[in-house]
Amino acid sequence: MGLHDIRGQWCFLSGAADGLGNAIARELAARGMNLVLFDVQEGKVASLAHELLALGIQALPVVADLADAAGTQTAVAEAVRQVGPPRALIHDAAVLTPRPFREWTFEGWRRELDIILQGAFVLAKGVWEPMIAQGHGSIVFISSGSALRGFPLESAYTPAKHGQEGLMKVLSIEGAEFNIAVNTATTGAPIDTPMSWGHYTPEMRERMISPSRLAPAFAYLAALDAEQATGLRFDAFQLSEAISLRTEAARA
Ligand SMILES: NC(=O)c1ccc[n+]([C@@H]2O[C@H](COP(=O)([O-])OP(=O)(O)OC[C@H]3O[C@@H](n4cnc5c(N)ncnc54)[C@H](O)[C@@H]3O)[C@@H](O)[C@H]2O)c1
Repeated sequence: MGLHDIRGQWCFLSGAADGLGNAIARELAARGMNLVLFDVQEGKVASLAHELLALGIQALPVVADLADAAGTQTAVAEAVRQVGPPRALIHDAAVLTPRPFREWTFEGWRRELDIILQGAFVLAKGVWEPMIAQGHGSIVFISSGSALRGFPLESAYTPAKHGQEGLMKVLSIEGAEFNIAVNTATTGAPIDTPMSWGHYTPEMRERMISPSRLAPAFAYLAALDAEQATGLRFDAFQLSEAISLRTEAARA
């Protein structure tokens, strides 16, 4: 079986207001995919939806704080009620607060975990039964080097990303019989986004690339079935480069 045609299909995307999520939204919209845009930044997500609607894409802005499990559950259920089961869920939203362990409070630590890891659980749980009912779906969590290694000042972000990687592995096994692909995608390169401005060293800032360079990977991932790829950790930069080279070769 080939990749799904994502045109006219829905993607639920968290973290759509800024950074990589915003670039993914624009890429998927350019390929004809409709979008439910979840974010805590009301003004930015509303204006993105407005822009995409002007391009003829159906775009639904949803203001949700992923640290609020009950509010997020309600928001996802309402989105499913309005547009039906999504073809894809991409959980991009995250925060990274660089802070020594001795300065973390439990509440601050818990909030960062809740946005990243609880968010992954609640979003996936909200689309799981609808995807089973439609017979297919693709779930992608955005990963990081911090899902595999420890970094100083990341006692919230690193365990949250490790947990998300673990959740992907379990859901990919359980999702296989329902044809739900579950994968993670790491950026593969430092990206020029608000998150990076807050904590990257000058040397890393020199290597930052535009998040739009990673976006083609997510159109591919949104189109996957479980039998094609599941339980994998993709490098979004490498995958996007390969897709761009293939597209150029096809045009030549
Ligand atoms: N920036 C990098 O170089 C880099 C490297 C590796 C992995 N990542 C990952 O890529 C993804 C995107 O990162 P980015 O650099 O674009 O970050 P960003 O900070 O630029 O954007 C994050 C988005 O998440 C949203 N968000 C934050 N808190 C939220 C909440 N409580 N509820 C709902 N939405 C919320 C923000 O409003 C924003 O739109 C993240 O998962 C991040 O961990 C980034």
